[in-house]
Amino acid sequence: MIKTYGIVAYPASHSLSPEMHNAAFKALKIGAKYRVFDVKPENFGDLIKDLHKNKIEGLNVSMPYKEEVIQYLDGIDPTAKKIGAVNCIYKKGKKYYGANYDWKGIVEPLKKITKLKGKKVLLLGAGGAAKAACFGLKKEGANVFILNRTFATAKELARKYGFKATETADSMPDIVINCTSVGFENPEESPINPEVFKDAGVVLDIIYGHETKFVSDAKAAGVKFIITGEEVLLHQGYATFKKWTGSKAPREIMKKSIRNF
Ligand code: ATR
Repeated sequence: MIKTYGIVAYPASHSLSPEMHNAAFKALKIGAKYRVFDVKPENFGDLIKDLHKNKIEGLNVSMPYKEEVIQYLDGIDPTAKKIGAVNCIYKKGKKYYGANYDWKGIVEPLKKITKLKGKKVLLLGAGGAAKAACFGLKKEGANVFILNRTFATAKELARKYGFKATETADSMPDIVINCTSVGFENPEESPINPEVFKDAGVVLDIIYGHETKFVSDAKAAGVKFIITGEEVLLHQGYATFKKWTGSKAPREIMKKSIRNF
């Protein structure tokens, strides 16, 4: 029987995860299909409570459900618990558990380029993606400054990991990471003034699907290494695929399946 996996989000239509996972299932001849569950908030609880009845083997969870989903699961991994969010549901026996691989999506591409220990990182945002980034950056020993539109949330997140919250971008960071949603709907908007890129050698944006102003500003400033959201999505996807299938993710196939990459 064909196994069903998928993504639940609202809206979910922009997701490239179906292309990525379906290409991987096909390449490894795994009898599985990855579907899109574009689910409105009033129907979310019903979908998750009925995972078993709906014969769903695993799900990626995206905006705005990464925190809400926790209450419906049979358990969550320690990492997801620490981050406070789940982006991957997997099945063990008849039970469903939550994991979080978003932090890998952010930290693994960075580690391919640079050591993170002691590096000055300016992290923009304090929402779900930023929480996952903090977990990974702490693990690697980076020196993180969090800048967010709502300062109180930045302070709370910084306190949790022993980082600093900042109200200005004048710290001359080595690495700048965008974990806000600015640039997602309007590519012409950036969360930060381009001057911040002056001393930065590495920039990462979590947004994918189009080139954001954040990324084009970084290019124009001559930043040497730029990681876009496609690569973040892929690295999160490699970990998800391994968890679901037990097989090593076919990385090149998954890469090729992503448009614009
Ligand atoms: P995600 O799970 O993708 O991180 P989220 O939890 O809703 O989504 O977080 C979105 C982040 O983008 C937050 O840091 C948010 O700032 P606030 O905490 O002040 O809400 C930030 N963000 C969203 N729209 C923004 C805007 N127009 N300008 C600046 N920051 C914005």
